[in-house]
Amino acid sequence: MDARTLRDEFLARFGRSPRVFRAPGRVNLIGEHTDYSGGFAMPCAIDKACLAAAARNGTDALRIASVEMEETIERPLARFQAQGHWSDYVAGAAAALQEAGVEVPGADLIIWSDVPLGAGVSSSAALGVAVTLALAGIAGADQTREQTARIAWRAETGFVGAPCGPLDQFASVFGAPGSALVLDCRSLRAELAPFPTAVTLLVVESGIHHAVREGGYPARRADCEAAAASLGIALLREASLADLHLLPPRLQRRARHVLSENARVLAAAEALKQADAASFGALMNAAHASLRDDFEATCPETDALAAIAASTPGVFGARQMGGGFGGCVLALAETDKAEAAAAAILARYSHPSGSPAPWFLCRPAGGAAEVVL
Ligand code: GLA
Repeated sequence: MDARTLRDEFLARFGRSPRVFRAPGRVNLIGEHTDYSGGFAMPCAIDKACLAAAARNGTDALRIASVEMEETIERPLARFQAQGHWSDYVAGAAAALQEAGVEVPGADLIIWSDVPLGAGVSSSAALGVAVTLALAGIAGADQTREQTARIAWRAETGFVGAPCGPLDQFASVFGAPGSALVLDCRSLRAELAPFPTAVTLLVVESGIHHAVREGGYPARRADCEAAAASLGIALLREASLADLHLLPPRLQRRARHVLSENARVLAAAEALKQADAASFGALMNAAHASLRDDFEATCPETDALAAIAASTPGVFGARQMGGGFGGCVLALAETDKAEAAAAAILARYSHPSGSPAPWFLCRPAGGAAEVVL
């Protein structure tokens, strides 16, 4: 669906014209489980996005609808409480805006998204950012892109209760066509790194799902925080390799992943500058091995899928992407050979459903913005 069709749908349902805001999903090229330790990551926005159409409704509630579902959910502005429902992402954005001092008006919203759910490409961040932009827009709040990303991040950690870092929301907001972002998760500054047209990103779903709220992710995050605390530093990013022997073995492995992964992101940024896809791919393979052996956040299926992808002709490197313990594998492929590589990978990977694994190709796309209609 495009923004004009969504506007027309809004007009038909609510009898007035809305403004429409768009926020993309993301992939993360390299730099996994580094963001909440203040480290480096290299995400980019993709061309799959969430659209939020919104207009004031003159009431003291949000009325939230989605294109796919018939129901319209009403959430009063005065008392937002998490309900374990998808509309929590909308209520959470409104609550985080209120916390930031924005007077959120009563509003009608219709949401539509083509960011695949549960595939590890941040469908929830796309929803949170689109709604944050939409509500701020109709409230007349003049906020910077950094404020938008921070508020949407706060909505997900504070309200929805996912203990995630800033990666997904910053990628969705700061994404730029044709460039990856080198994101410093301590300063929250993003630099653009032009992405060569000769290479393409291939996302293949493993079929194993794991939510950021479930055990593995919070446990790894707790390990990183315990390692930092025991070294007497605020963020694990500030540790030095020479000090890691002071930690017990498990925390040593976690910290080694974070420090080596930060170094790989910086090396990958250098490889991008040189348009050196082979070195970039080797860093992705090393990132997967570190996530598997030191961070212990992969699973047999993503290990198998990453190994298959990395050994497929036309692929420079591959690794499990996202929160971990499943999700999807991201491969860096030669643009001309990417479709053939996908077919070869699908033929060798047994997806748990018995059907071929869902996959798509993407390139860095633009970040969140209002759609001018
Ligand atoms: C999820 C979280 C991010 C980040 C990644 C792992 O996507 O939402 O904040 O921690 O996992 O790199």
